[in-house]
Amino acid sequence: ARIYREGVFGRRPVVPVEPAALEAAAQRRMSPEAWSYVAGGAGQQRTVRANTEAFDRHRIVPRMLVDVEERDQSVELFGRRLPSPYLLAPIGVLEMAHREAEHAVARAARSLGVPMVLSTQASVPMEEVARDLGDSPRWYQLYWSKDDGVVDSFVRRAEEIGSDALVVTLDTHVLGWRTRDLDLAYLPFARAEGIAQYLSDPHFRSLVEHRAANPPAVDGPQPRPTPAAVRALLSMTRHYPGRFRDNLRSPLPRAAVETFLDVFSRSSLTWEDLAYLRERTSLPIVLKGIQDPRDAQLALEHGVDGIVVSNHGGRQVDGAIASLDALPAVVDTVGGRVPVLFDSGVRSGADAFTALALGAQAVLVGRPWVYGLALAGEDGVRAVLEHLMAELDLTMALSGVTDLAGITRDLLA
Ligand code: FNR
Repeated sequence: ARIYREGVFGRRPVVPVEPAALEAAAQRRMSPEAWSYVAGGAGQQRTVRANTEAFDRHRIVPRMLVDVEERDQSVELFGRRLPSPYLLAPIGVLEMAHREAEHAVARAARSLGVPMVLSTQASVPMEEVARDLGDSPRWYQLYWSKDDGVVDSFVRRAEEIGSDALVVTLDTHVLGWRTRDLDLAYLPFARAEGIAQYLSDPHFRSLVEHRAANPPAVDGPQPRPTPAAVRALLSMTRHYPGRFRDNLRSPLPRAAVETFLDVFSRSSLTWEDLAYLRERTSLPIVLKGIQDPRDAQLALEHGVDGIVVSNHGGRQVDGAIASLDALPAVVDTVGGRVPVLFDSGVRSGADAFTALALGAQAVLVGRPWVYGLALAGEDGVRAVLEHLMAELDLTMALSGVTDLAGITRDLLA
């Protein structure tokens, strides 16, 4: 009601309400590198497109003359009542969208009580984000490092900042074929904007210092970093106080990048490894990146506490099935034993309604709030979330449902 009333009195929304207009405005605002990294996906962008197009194949069939005066879009997940079924998907390298990065996002999340899933690839160490979040809910997303010590340290830190769940991202054990980033020679992951979580980690720093003191033998000539890469390396000093500030010749920045590239991911990971995590934490373990019902079955057999049906926003396997098309079979396999969450392609409240109708308990939203962040910082993230919540509320009202349990598959054609 507030959003409509402001419109009546001539106040424009903080960021465009229409998803395509939001995206276009963000593209105008962002650097080509940032835009390509955020909006882009793998290969020919087939799965990026498929994720949103899949929503076009479902139509809502509204019911009439139902008393919808009182409506409630809250949901309970892992023992906490949340104001809506939306979560902020874990997004790395946010500094490229806005200099306040996670600080702005956390303040927006807190103002609405929407859970923020903190990325391993963050631009701000998780302890600082936790301070911005206050008592507001947070989950931690883990990229499973090749180095056990890094895994242990991240899990312990995630517990210490009061995470409600640990989201283990399965689909990025190697980075996808990101054509646009490759063409721009842009590897955001390994830049200062994306490795604050590592640089702030005592265990990771001990690996870096060891490497700097014992440089591994290299065969053949090493690529010389371009001036832009040198600037990126130097900007890491922010997160690595004292040791290599303003010292271009220090081996530490380079050792930090090399160490990151070495330990970032573990492509040998298998289902059996989940026991390792289970022994180390009592937090609910949520697997992100499930698309095949057979993997959902394996997840149940390995005792996980939740699943996110996701294809990483089409950023990993070009030509992969649209995430929405993968959802119903996973929901059927899981049969309500653990929560099934959904992401990849949600752009509106109506989209969220569709995913919920297909059986998701909650939805993670990725790019839209990054566009809000790029356009208007904290206010932009909040506006995007408010628009999503408002449209879901109206869609519920107009479809004749008053709570999330009422959003069922028979409301879709
Ligand atoms: C991501 N995603 C992601 N996932 C994750 O587990 N850890 C991460 O650090 C990131 N980083 C990241 C950066 C950017 C720029 C994007 C767009 C995405 C994937 C993200 O959590 C989510 O799965 C998708 O963004 C969902 O798709 P939509 O909503 O963007 O279509």
